[in-house]
Amino acid sequence: MTEAILLVGGKGTRLRPLTVHTPKPMVPAAGVPFLTHQLARARAAGIEHIVLATSYLAEVFEPYFGDGSSLGLHLEYVTEREPLGTGGAIRNVASRLHSAPGDPVLIFNGDILTGLDIAALVDTHRTSGADVSLHLTRVEDPRAFGLVPTDDTGRVTAFLEKPQTPEEIVTDQINAGAYVFNRSVIDTIPAGRPVSVERETFPGLLADGAHLQGMVDSTYWLDLGTPQAFVRGSADLVLGRAPSPAVPGRCGDRLVLETADVATDAKLTGGTVVGPRTVIGAGARIDGSAVLEGAVIEPGAQIHDSLIGAGARIGARTVLDGAVIGDGARIGADNELRGGIRIWCDADIPAGSVRFSSDQ
Ligand code: GDD
Ligand code: MG
Repeated sequence: MTEAILLVGGKGTRLRPLTVHTPKPMVPAAGVPFLTHQLARARAAGIEHIVLATSYLAEVFEPYFGDGSSLGLHLEYVTEREPLGTGGAIRNVASRLHSAPGDPVLIFNGDILTGLDIAALVDTHRTSGADVSLHLTRVEDPRAFGLVPTDDTGRVTAFLEKPQTPEEIVTDQINAGAYVFNRSVIDTIPAGRPVSVERETFPGLLADGAHLQGMVDSTYWLDLGTPQAFVRGSADLVLGRAPSPAVPGRCGDRLVLETADVATDAKLTGGTVVGPRTVIGAGARIDGSAVLEGAVIEPGAQIHDSLIGAGARIGARTVLDGAVIGDGARIGADNELRGGIRIWCDADIPAGSVRFSSDQ
């Protein structure tokens, strides 16, 4: 049985303020911590043993997921004393693996929402005889990712993490953040110091003549590293565009968690999720957005492609479009917040004080 490592120790800097109190994998998407979707998908693919490599806000994972038995998994947690980077984190959990040297071990970045056929990646790994196999996907702008050109047999010819110059942009194929490593390759990563699997391990393996195999797959794929992507991912889970066995309800235009209190004439559309103990006032319109636990949306608010943090309050008639509201923030009535604005946790914006258009 294949086992897996999940990398969940990053600081989630680009997602702040969502990651001020919560590590990125624990921010709710479609009603449950994002990580739940990844764990459930791994379980559905037959994986039973998963080691979580934690660092930032490490203490919150185990109290929530415990030994994993509620998901049918055996989960273990290993926390780095200092962040060890992606490669160091992989090496740091090696002692918990049960696999023999020639066995395949799956490794996942902890912020990827994808329909990847995990079994197909393991099959590609077995049939190609590679040392490491990588899930690749094509994107329009690859600059924020690891570029992975391959030859016509799918063998990886280079690995260029976050290219800085136009000459380095040699392909639109990027590292999609899911790997199969032979166990013996994991044991060759240096222990006890930070290592980047993208900047050190992959280029080093290629220089040594190792066989890295790419599997390009055009299924649903999204890195939830930015607020806009996170909101999109949550909505796609609710809509059923992104597959997950862990969505707590039927997929459709909206997902209303059990203890939410939604006015009968409020309109929830476009994959909106309203979390437990939320209150949605009369005439509110919420599209493609996520309203986290205990948040209050007052009557007539209009919310589009936004994320409202836990316990936040959005005043009457306020308009939000592409906004992120931190946990516990209070936005007074008749404000207009747009275009990627981030309001910090517990901030207080008085009524009628921010607009992007005339109030008349
Ligand atoms: N345990 C641990 N310790 N985990 C870490 C650490 C660390 O020091 N640093 C990062 N991680 C985890 C993050 O939590 C995340 O799940 C994963 O490693 C990748 O880190 P990101 O910070 O999200 O990297 P990225 O999105 O900029 O780039 C990576 O993902 C892209 C695909 O989304 C790279 O792997 C790129 O090559 C790739 O294209
Ligand atoms: Mg990422």
